[in-house]
Amino acid sequence: MQKLAMIGCGGIGSYHLGHFLNFKDIELAGFCDLIIERAEGFVKKAGSGKAYSDFIQMYNEVEPDMVFICIPPSCHGFIELETIRRGIPFFVEKPLALDMELANTINDAVAAKGLTTAVGFQCRYDNINEPAIDYIKSNRIVTVAGSRVGGIPGVPWWRIKAQSGGQLVEQTIHQMDILRYFLGEPDRVYSVATRGIITPEKCPNYCTDDLSTTLVVFKSGVTATMMTGCYSENGASWDSKMTFGSISSRMDYRLCSDVRFFGIDKRDVAAEVAGTISGDGTQRRSESEVGIDVKSSVDFGTICDRTFIDAVLTGDPSKIRSPYSDALKSVAFTLACNRSMETGEVVKL
Ligand SMILES: NC(=O)c1ccc[n+]([C@@H]2O[C@H](COP(=O)([O-])OP(=O)(O)OC[C@H]3O[C@@H](n4cnc5c(N)ncnc54)[C@H](O)[C@@H]3O)[C@@H](O)[C@H]2O)c1
Repeated sequence: MQKLAMIGCGGIGSYHLGHFLNFKDIELAGFCDLIIERAEGFVKKAGSGKAYSDFIQMYNEVEPDMVFICIPPSCHGFIELETIRRGIPFFVEKPLALDMELANTINDAVAAKGLTTAVGFQCRYDNINEPAIDYIKSNRIVTVAGSRVGGIPGVPWWRIKAQSGGQLVEQTIHQMDILRYFLGEPDRVYSVATRGIITPEKCPNYCTDDLSTTLVVFKSGVTATMMTGCYSENGASWDSKMTFGSISSRMDYRLCSDVRFFGIDKRDVAAEVAGTISGDGTQRRSESEVGIDVKSSVDFGTICDRTFIDAVLTGDPSKIRSPYSDALKSVAFTLACNRSMETGEVVKL
C-alpha cells in the first residue's frame, strides 16, 4: 500500500484527515507538526502512523509516496523544495506563497522533476461548476460583481497581513480562482483597502485590511468587481456571491453552495424588477419565486483529495483541476491586488 504523510496538523489538516479516514487503499503513515501534540492527535484519530515535529526525520523514516502540506501561508519554501528534491508528489494548501519569486522557484523545480502536484482549490470540484461553465460558454458575459463578507478566523497568524497575505490572498483567493477558472486570465487590477474599522483593542495584534474592493479587467475585456471584508459580526456577514451579468439573463453563483440562473426561462422576466408592481397593476413575482437553481450536492473536498491520490496511484494527473502551475496564477492575481492596494496604481499581470 502506498504511504501518505502530512505536514501541518491544524484546522485544514483536520479537514483532509476526515477525508482520508474513508480511504482504505492508502496507509496513513506519518504526521508532522511543530506542535507535536497536534501530530500525536492525528495519529490517534487515524489509528495508524507515527508523529513527528521534524518533517526531514519523517521523510527519512517513513519514506512517503505522497504528502499533504497544510501549513500557514508564510511558512512555505524549504518544505516544498526538499519534497521536490526527494521526488515526492505533493498536495499543498492555498495560498502557495506570499511572494512570486518563491512560488516561481517552486514551480520551476516541480516542472524540472515532472512531479504530480495539486492545490487546495476544492471549489473547482463542485457540481455547480458544470452548469455555470455551460452558461458562460453560451451567454456573453458583460460584467461580474462579487463579494464576500465575514469575520476574522481564529488562527492567530490570520490577522497579521505579513503572515496571511490579507483576506484577499488568504480567503477570497477561492473566488478569484473561480473567476479565472470561468473567465480566463486577468489582464490588470486596481484595488483599494480600508482599515480602522477593527481596532487592536477589539482584536489583539490585528494588523490587516478590514475590507478591500478590486476592479479586474480580464484579457477577454470582461470586467469584474470583488468586495471582500472581514469586519463583520453576527448578521452583518453575507454569503459569498458572484453575479455574472449577460444581456438578457444572469447567473448568481454562490461558492460551494448553489448557482441560480435568471432569464433563461422566459417567465423569469419578473426577476428584472423583483418585488415591484408591473404595468398591468399586478404584483411581480419576487426573485425567490423565479430562476433555475442547481445546488451543490457533492463532497467536493473529498473529490479534490481523492483526485490527487488517484493521480499518484495511477500516474495519470489529467483529472487534477488545480496543479501547482495553475494555482500559481491565482496567487499572482491576488498578490497583484495587494500591490495595487499598496501603491495606489493599476497593476498589470
Ligand atoms: N482550502 C481551504 O478551503 C482552506 C481552508 C482553511 C485553511 N486553508 C489553508 O490551509 C493553510 C493552513 O491553515 P490552518 O487553518 O490549518 O492553519 P493552522 O494554524 O490551524 O494549522 C497550521 C499548522 O501548521 C503547523 N506548521 C507550521 N509550520 C510547520 C512546519 N514547518 N512543520 C510542521 N508543521 C508546521 C502549525 O504548527 C499548525 O499546527 C493556510 O494556508 C490556509 O489558507 C485552506
